[in-house]
Amino acid sequence: MRNIVAGNWKSNKLLKEGEELIADINHGMPSLRKTDVIVAPPAPYLAHYAANGSKSSHVMLSAQQCSVNSAGAHTGEFTAEMLKSCGVNHVIIGHSERRDRFGETYEVVRNKVKEAVTANLHVLLCCGESLAVREEQGHFELIAEQLKDALMHIGPELMANITIAYEPIWAIGTGVTATADQAQEMHQFIRKQLTSSYDSKIAKATRILYGGSCKPSNADEIFGKPDVNGGLIGGAALDAESFLALISASEAS
Ligand code: 13P
Repeated sequence: MRNIVAGNWKSNKLLKEGEELIADINHGMPSLRKTDVIVAPPAPYLAHYAANGSKSSHVMLSAQQCSVNSAGAHTGEFTAEMLKSCGVNHVIIGHSERRDRFGETYEVVRNKVKEAVTANLHVLLCCGESLAVREEQGHFELIAEQLKDALMHIGPELMANITIAYEPIWAIGTGVTATADQAQEMHQFIRKQLTSSYDSKIAKATRILYGGSCKPSNADEIFGKPDVNGGLIGGAALDAESFLALISASEAS
């Protein structure tokens, strides 16, 4: 199975800065043996990057979210189908910043996953627990619940369209990383959940990414764990040198 190294730019970079970053990533890209490289720029730039990307670009595009609705009178929203029509093939859904700051409930996340898969987008589905939940030892139960709910409408035949990203909230943007053992423990648990919800073949084939202060200094150890299939990267994806180092760590894993 191929790894994924995906950069979530969040609300950073202006149009030209992002263009330069993608060009620098392409320029420094090692030959990719086992890694799919994705960036998730702010939505307004996606169509432009898709249209202007060189044919030889190895960087795929993702949105950071999409509407829960299909086309209609929903001022300000953009649908999964619109993303697809712009040449975007991936979308992040259920990021903790969307859940916590923009009120995305379980129901919204579940329906966004369905919308995205129906539009033939590949979903990077995020799950993760807060520090309070981990301290109360509730993290396994919460992750199981988040995944079960978000994947409620996704039958086995659609699971090829899903990648899971485990992003413990206490590690996002904090500089505190889950240890490689903590990541492995949770990823193994997630794979077990997929085995019981689907089957072992699907569980084995589904990629599970780690996210949360992942950077070149810790990537070798984290990506080296058997159930870690790459990373969803925030801060370290905003700089070509560190993002390329993460890609190399994935290639070496
Ligand atoms: P950081 O890598 O900045 O901690 O962000 C992780 C993240 O939220 C990626 O989606």
